[in-house]
Amino acid sequence: MKDEVLIDIKDVKKHFPLSKKWFAEKKYVKAVDGVSFSIKKGETFGLVGESGCGKSTTGRLINGLIKADSGEINFKGKNLANISEKDWKKYRKPMQMVFQDPYASLSPRMKVKDILLEPLKIHYPKMPNDEKKKLITELMDKCGISEFHLEKYPHEFSGGQRQRIGIARSLILRPELIIADEPVSALDVSIQSQILNLMKDLQEEFGLTYLFISHDLSVVEHISDRVGVMYLGNLVEIARKRQIFEDPKHPYTQALLSSIPQPDPKKKRETIVLTGEIPSAANPPSGCKFHTRCPAAMEICRKIVPELKQLGREQYTACHLY
Ligand SMILES: Nc1ncnc2c1ncn2[C@@H]1O[C@H](COP(=O)(O)OP(=O)(O)OP(=O)(O)O)[C@@H](O)[C@H]1O
Ligand SMILES: [Mg+2]
Repeated sequence: MKDEVLIDIKDVKKHFPLSKKWFAEKKYVKAVDGVSFSIKKGETFGLVGESGCGKSTTGRLINGLIKADSGEINFKGKNLANISEKDWKKYRKPMQMVFQDPYASLSPRMKVKDILLEPLKIHYPKMPNDEKKKLITELMDKCGISEFHLEKYPHEFSGGQRQRIGIARSLILRPELIIADEPVSALDVSIQSQILNLMKDLQEEFGLTYLFISHDLSVVEHISDRVGVMYLGNLVEIARKRQIFEDPKHPYTQALLSSIPQPDPKKKRETIVLTGEIPSAANPPSGCKFHTRCPAAMEICRKIVPELKQLGREQYTACHLY
């Protein structure tokens, strides 16, 4: 089914306590502060925004690595936000993560073959060894790692190859959703596109759905169908990729885009320089959190939080200009 929604999150919040001292005034970092979006089966949803805006926290909430304070996390129509740790285990198999630094997530003392074997042993203890081996070699081959590399250790590979191994490991249990958190951010630009192309090929082959997290809009442009732009714990714009890149509505999206170098002078965008630092997520500005840096800020922006409004068929923005 083409329009089947795989993941649908509604008004999800995660506030981390800032001070553990009992006598201090309780302060919270509003890492995720009421986020809603959905991802259709087979789609790639790119989540972008500056450092600290809550992208990784959103990914970890969806994956169940951390629990939401409130809101719904619906996976295939079932709300996972309040289920027990034991029940979460069932849903971890169809949801897997790929991280920025595969070196940190691959055990240095394990051979590559054992890194891939481990999840199979846990989830399919009765599977015969030769079948396990076949699954591993076939998958590694699809990820561009040949069989003779299976006896090697992670440190014997380059960064790009290690990310191929990380991707293979995320796919060994045949998940439906991959949450990729900055999967190419640590790689050289030339290697980045190889990994992005590999991810696209694997998506087609296995019918995967991606939540693709990156601070880099040009990386997201490469791979996404739709894009969500985050600022200080909120989504400020959601739209199809083309709309985001050709006709962005939110001043923050416009500013992010204008900072991407544009080689074609005809496509050159007006440069919007954001003034001021990103405010702290522990003490965000009132009203629209972006008003302190927004070139189009009005009086209302200081006072009233803008709702995410639908502007076009698939374009939503949270801004008082509309
Ligand atoms: N476990 C935690 N305890 C306390 N604060 C946290 C925790 N995890 C994240 N934060 C804070 O929540 C906010 C959002 O962090 P998050 O890692 O989600 O941002 P991000 O968008 O992924 O940033 P980056 O681009 O740097 O990876 C930050 O202010 C961060 O310091
Ligand atoms: Mg992050």
